[in-house]
Amino acid sequence: MQHRKPIKSPSSPHSTQPTNNPKQIPTLKFILIAMATLFSLTILSLLLFFTLSSASRHHQNPRNNSSSSSSSPTIIIQEACKASRDPSTCKSSLTQSNHVPVGATAQQVIQAALWVSSNNLIKGRAMVQEVLKQFNGNKNGTTAANNCIELLRYSEYRINLLADALPRGKIKDARAWLSSALVYQYDSWSALKYVNTSSLVGQTMAFLNSSLIASTSDALGMLMSYDVYGDKTGSWGPAKTERDGFWEPPSASGSGSPGGVPSGLKVDVTVCKSNCDYKTVQEAVNAAPENNGNRFVIKINAGVYEETVRIPLEKKNVVFLGDGMGKTVITGSLNVGQPGVTTYNSATVGVIGDGFMASGVTFQNTAGPDAHQAVAFRSDSDLSIVENCEFLGNQDTLYAHSLRQYYKSCHIQGNVDFIFGNSAAFFQDCLILVAPRQQKPEKGENNAVTAHGRIDPAQSTGFVFQNCVINGTDAYMALYYSKPKVHKNYLGRPWKQYSRTVFIRCTLEALITPPGWLPWDGEFALKTLYYGEFENNGAGSDTSGRVNWSSQIPAEHVQSYSVENFIQGDQWISSIL
Ligand SMILES: *[C@@H]1O[C@H](CO)[C@@H](O)[C@H](O)[C@H]1NC(C)=O
Ligand SMILES: *[C@@H]1O[C@H](CO)[C@@H](O)[C@H](O)[C@H]1NC(C)=O
Ligand SMILES: *[C@@H]1O[C@H](CO)[C@@H](O)[C@H](O)[C@H]1NC(C)=O
Ligand SMILES: *[C@@H]1O[C@H](CO)[C@@H](O)[C@H](O)[C@H]1NC(C)=O
Ligand SMILES: *[C@@H]1O[C@H](CO)[C@@H](O)[C@H](O)[C@H]1NC(C)=O
Ligand SMILES: *[C@@H]1O[C@H](CO)[C@@H](O)[C@H](O)[C@H]1NC(C)=O
Ligand SMILES: *[C@@H]1O[C@H](CO)[C@@H](O)[C@H](O)[C@H]1NC(C)=O
Repeated sequence: MQHRKPIKSPSSPHSTQPTNNPKQIPTLKFILIAMATLFSLTILSLLLFFTLSSASRHHQNPRNNSSSSSSSPTIIIQEACKASRDPSTCKSSLTQSNHVPVGATAQQVIQAALWVSSNNLIKGRAMVQEVLKQFNGNKNGTTAANNCIELLRYSEYRINLLADALPRGKIKDARAWLSSALVYQYDSWSALKYVNTSSLVGQTMAFLNSSLIASTSDALGMLMSYDVYGDKTGSWGPAKTERDGFWEPPSASGSGSPGGVPSGLKVDVTVCKSNCDYKTVQEAVNAAPENNGNRFVIKINAGVYEETVRIPLEKKNVVFLGDGMGKTVITGSLNVGQPGVTTYNSATVGVIGDGFMASGVTFQNTAGPDAHQAVAFRSDSDLSIVENCEFLGNQDTLYAHSLRQYYKSCHIQGNVDFIFGNSAAFFQDCLILVAPRQQKPEKGENNAVTAHGRIDPAQSTGFVFQNCVINGTDAYMALYYSKPKVHKNYLGRPWKQYSRTVFIRCTLEALITPPGWLPWDGEFALKTLYYGEFENNGAGSDTSGRVNWSSQIPAEHVQSYSVENFIQGDQWISSIL
């Protein structure tokens, strides 16, 4: 998999369409017309959005104004764009946006950066809609373009949430949501990679990369600086990571277990093979009200449910209560070897709606070790809690795709990159088991437990494992001990440039090989990732043979990876109803 840096090109967001190809002009006209229509429809809401946000900004912020805020916007733009990965294009796009007022506050600059990003999203979507038309009849192309549009919808939804979060000082939420918006934009770009068969697709991809992703990255960088340094834009700078020796100041001090799925939840509907409200899990999910503030509790009785389950964006606070791991089993076998199936779509259960909870359920993908990517469970559910659940698969078992997720006392089984994605996921007291890959076991294999995919240093994402056990299944350990030298298991490898994963006070059994971590492709990401270990035990925890691009977490910074600081768990995880 090739990496890319989401850095913008020198072109401005308003002039990214190359017009030197005469064949493209009719299509471009079409796009421009589509864009104009979309603009007129959205301009009103955008205006309202930013007027409201700037009107309410005085209510909350104890932080100081920028020293430069009373003069022309040039200085504050200059200062704020120091937080961008590409300050010069950040400056030109913000200036051209005309959305930074004279005397702007730091928040107003961020809002202007968000405006640029939203604006690019609207343009990008119009382009993808043209691509979709062009793919008329081409199944792969149509699937890719539709996936792309759907991902842009998630991105837009998250960016819109910031309008409310920022004025209320909910900066950690804002960072989490904008981090996810960037994940979806990147994936939207990636979705087109395998169907880049015309110049229109090529131009669309170039726009998504150089304008959309770049402008979102600018806003995200600013948000991180704002969180860390406050209103004083003079101190803003590029997002730093642990590899630069930077840890964010902890905002919470607690370090206790904050809870899990509350007990005593009132069941709304039941699922079983006979004499229940529904026979399938999906039917019960379909019955959940949309955009509901209340939990919708689905009791899934013991049994094997062979189905694909999707919980869409609009179905929030859905709860799955099973009868226990191995008893309530949701199973499927979709995998990327099948026509039209992507890794994302291969999930047996896929959750988008926020506030998802599950307890006592096994999520399974039985495609087998030869099938490559085959996801058992995928989550984009912010503030989700999964406890006492089991995830069974081989490659890519658990796709913790985006946003803040808490896994407690779960069993997770697989072999290649079997916990992956670009979420901020916290694994507490989990049992993580490597399973045999079966193909010529005598030849051995390399397995990576994790493949975290952070693409931007300002994304507040990463995987934290606390008090977990990393071991093999009995069958795997038998294979392992028959020839320990050829069966190599690593804690993780960098799927993307800023991959971040830490293991804290875990038991790393003998199967973890002394180097500990595996490169993805040559030197890729080795200077930018952060792989940390702290007070682990077990035969695989000896760090003397570790690769020199992994780290020991300094004791004074381990608090940064608490459930409170890393995913703000103190604000949403509780055992209380
Ligand atoms: C994305 O954009 C950046 C900046 O324009 C460029 O350097 C990079 O090559 C682009 N990536 C791809 C895959 O086009
Ligand atoms: C705001 O500025 C004043 C005076 O420069 C300073 O005393 C104060 O600590 C600052 N407050 C914050 C939150 O930065
Ligand atoms: C920030 O600036 C605004 C207007 O420029 C002013 O009303 C407000 O009092 C200032 N706040 C602080 C904390 O200096
Ligand atoms: C898309 O294809 C065009 C033409 O083959 C190529 O120039 C461009 O680099 C490709 N874009 C990406 C992002 O792969
Ligand atoms: C569509 O994608 C599949 C793989 O998912 C590939 O085997 C097939 O050749 C593609 N079809 C076309 C027309 O590109
Ligand atoms: C790891 O698995 C082996 C059996 O394969 C077992 O003997 C050992 O106790 C397990 N380790 C932990 C920490 O559970
Ligand atoms: C890290 O190790 C590699 C190979 O083991 C070596 O080439 C490289 O120079 C080392 N880097 C540092 C900073 O020690």
